[in-house]
Amino acid sequence: MNNNYTIAPRVLIETYGCQMNVNDSEVVLAILSKSGYVLCKEVSLADLVLINTCAIRDNAEQRILGRLDFFRLEKKKHPSLVVGVIGCMAERLKEKLLEHPAVDLVAGPDAYRDLPRLLESIRATGSKQINTLLSHEETYGDISPVRMDAGGVSAYISIMRGCNNVCSYCVVPYTRGAERSRDCESILREAREVIDAGYKEIILLGQNVDSYKFGDVSFAKLLEMVARLSPSVRVRFATSHPKDMKDEVLLTMAAYPNICKHIHLPVQSGSNAMLEKMRRRHTREWYLDRVARIREIMPDCAITTDVITGFCGETETDFEDTLDLFRQVKFDAAFMFQYSERPGTLAQRHYPDDVPPEVKTARLEQVIALQGELSLESNRRDVGKTFEVLVEGFSKKSASDLMGRTSQNKACVFPAAGHKTGEYVTVLVKDCTPATLLCEVVE
Ligand code: SAH
Ligand code: SF4
Ligand code: F3S
Repeated sequence: MNNNYTIAPRVLIETYGCQMNVNDSEVVLAILSKSGYVLCKEVSLADLVLINTCAIRDNAEQRILGRLDFFRLEKKKHPSLVVGVIGCMAERLKEKLLEHPAVDLVAGPDAYRDLPRLLESIRATGSKQINTLLSHEETYGDISPVRMDAGGVSAYISIMRGCNNVCSYCVVPYTRGAERSRDCESILREAREVIDAGYKEIILLGQNVDSYKFGDVSFAKLLEMVARLSPSVRVRFATSHPKDMKDEVLLTMAAYPNICKHIHLPVQSGSNAMLEKMRRRHTREWYLDRVARIREIMPDCAITTDVITGFCGETETDFEDTLDLFRQVKFDAAFMFQYSERPGTLAQRHYPDDVPPEVKTARLEQVIALQGELSLESNRRDVGKTFEVLVEGFSKKSASDLMGRTSQNKACVFPAAGHKTGEYVTVLVKDCTPATLLCEVVE
């Protein structure tokens, strides 16, 4: 194939959205590498640009539409450039995206094996191509992702795809289809490969890792199998769902020092009325009970969350319940969003998006301010303690300082003193900001 190329065709992949998308881009690169493509980082040198997109909120999509306008101009300079939109926005908008003058190709998250054929058809016929079929089986289990950051410290491994939860605000079940768990043997094979390649941290990914099930292998069992591969390789995972998070997973985490003591447990709202409307299938009380159980089993475990402000019908009292839950739990960090209505979701079909934008924004700012205080409090509790950190690279602010993370996923900055990326270093926390622990190395 690609007979018209005298040298290998070059692909630029731009990734938006979550960790799952980052890992999918690595799967796409693996598939295209087999067809002879090489990765490039400069638009001016690329034969193919793939934009791996996110559809979670309207602003995510607006950003991508802006990028497409940029690539339209690039195509004027470079008419043979092929531009493809892949990922969640591709799946959501399907043919509509082909109407954009910059777009030659649209492929959804389960159609990546078809990319070489679609690209060949574009070359052969000059016509736009699309595949947005979702699958009940595809897990790309046999494909070893080609990592974009060769020589990096952390490697993502997807353990499942899709989501069966249908939270009423969320577009993911529509863009990624039904939940399916990947063959555990293929996960272990990939984990061994990344360990052999020198990665020091494995991050297991799924929209709802607690519902992983392959034969009789549960998520707790899988986590244990991965953790046992090498005691010097850290294991992290995301995302846990409060309704499914089991004690078995917590006990496994507690039993293995190399399983990081951090749980990302999205709560979305502190109000039972909102949780019900969101179809989260857990209550505030259930969530608080899960938090209590985490702290009972692992007193040093960090807990982080996601929250949405201004969901349909959210009253001041509902929002107060969210602030109150934040104060009660004292999250170590949080991702905070204002509600963005997504076409086709249950919420869009059944509930008016009736919280005025300025109220959504004001509430968002309020919860961000509160979390800023809680993050600072959480970091202050660490001052005077020592932690083992895994060095990820230089600090953004100073080339003589390194940045490494604690098991709890907190960023520590400290003088390099001869240490390098990928090493474990013991540090003493001297001071902090809301986002960073300022440390020195303990010899
Ligand atoms: N599977 C994970 C994360 C999904 S998306 C989970 O169940 O939590 C990441 C976060 O985006 C969600 O946790 C939620 O807080 C936010 N989100 C999802 N849909 C949204 C919407 N329509 N508007 C605003 N935020 C949204
Ligand atoms: Fe979306 Fe809910 Fe699935 Fe998370 S669990 S991806 S929020 S539907
Ligand atoms: Fe991820 Fe965005 Fe899709 S958050 S699953 S890339 S809609």
